[in-house]
Amino acid sequence: GTFNNLLETYLNMSKNYWVIDTDAGVDDCQAMVLGISAMHRELIDIVGITAVAGNVGLPQALINIAQTLKSCGEENLPFYPGAVSPLVAPLKVAASIHGEDGLNNYWKLNGKSKEGLPSPQEKHAAQAIIDLANEYRGELSITTIGPLTNLALAVSLDPSLPSKLKRVLVMGGAVHALGNTSFVAEFNIKSDPEAAHIVFQKFPRIEVLPWETCIAAEHQFSYEFLEQYLSRASDKGVFIKEITKVEEGKSSVFFCDPLTLCVAVDETVAKRVEEREGHVELTGTLTRGMTVVNWGCSDEKEVNEGTGVRNLRIIEALDMQKVQELFLQSVI
Ligand code: BDR
Ligand code: CA
Repeated sequence: GTFNNLLETYLNMSKNYWVIDTDAGVDDCQAMVLGISAMHRELIDIVGITAVAGNVGLPQALINIAQTLKSCGEENLPFYPGAVSPLVAPLKVAASIHGEDGLNNYWKLNGKSKEGLPSPQEKHAAQAIIDLANEYRGELSITTIGPLTNLALAVSLDPSLPSKLKRVLVMGGAVHALGNTSFVAEFNIKSDPEAAHIVFQKFPRIEVLPWETCIAAEHQFSYEFLEQYLSRASDKGVFIKEITKVEEGKSSVFFCDPLTLCVAVDETVAKRVEEREGHVELTGTLTRGMTVVNWGCSDEKEVNEGTGVRNLRIIEALDMQKVQELFLQSVI
């Protein structure tokens, strides 16, 4: 009766429901393993994974997600096929950086069989985001660790989506213009600038973990740490070890997407946050895909499209103690 309803409401309120939207490259899979492990410790509840083309094409992304779920013993966690290409731009995968399969040639090198992998749902990722937002109204958050195509499609289909989602946490953007895919643009934004533009326009408050924060020296991982992270004998641990390429001669390594999941699991991982207005450049000859942030211009009207609304919460510093703990616990 009423008591059970109240109890259920209370339990739901205290839960941390998430959808992970991913293009399933190496650090995406690390991120999924980290999130699912946190779910096993009841820190977070992942209710779906949505796949998008980006680091790899959609079919490969679905295979990489399936293998990740299998490694985590989560074959029943639903995952959904999303956009096969950006809205307007042509798909440009990152094979030169993460290998043809997005996992540093995990599939080729390990001669792994794709048999027995869990199958994706039939429903499109954008519809799944909408349906899950309705099911967990006000309690569901989404983190995007790939191009923003699926979220842009979802908010175009359901313009009320922003009012139904609790948090939107985006890995992406070179907010200080230190690009990785062009001089000034970061991969996830640059891959589908129109989608990113739609998301930045439609969602009044987006948490952003930008490229520059991920690669900052104080957020990198030492080799001593990596030895621990990459030496676990669990299925998850072995999978992480097999996909993670450690280049010789470097004294430290950075990862992007698993840092984002750390912020999803524990908000307090974000130690310094700057609230700013930001937009995505669509038309620049040299700057298409740039994340343009107002860091100090006081005359908002001077800024193209300036609205004075601080729509971005830009994460500038992380609690690495907590991050390292979450990483190590994810491979146990
Ligand atoms: C982003 O691009 C991808 O290569 C990574 O997975 C990350 O999401 C960094 O620019
Ligand atoms: Ca990614």
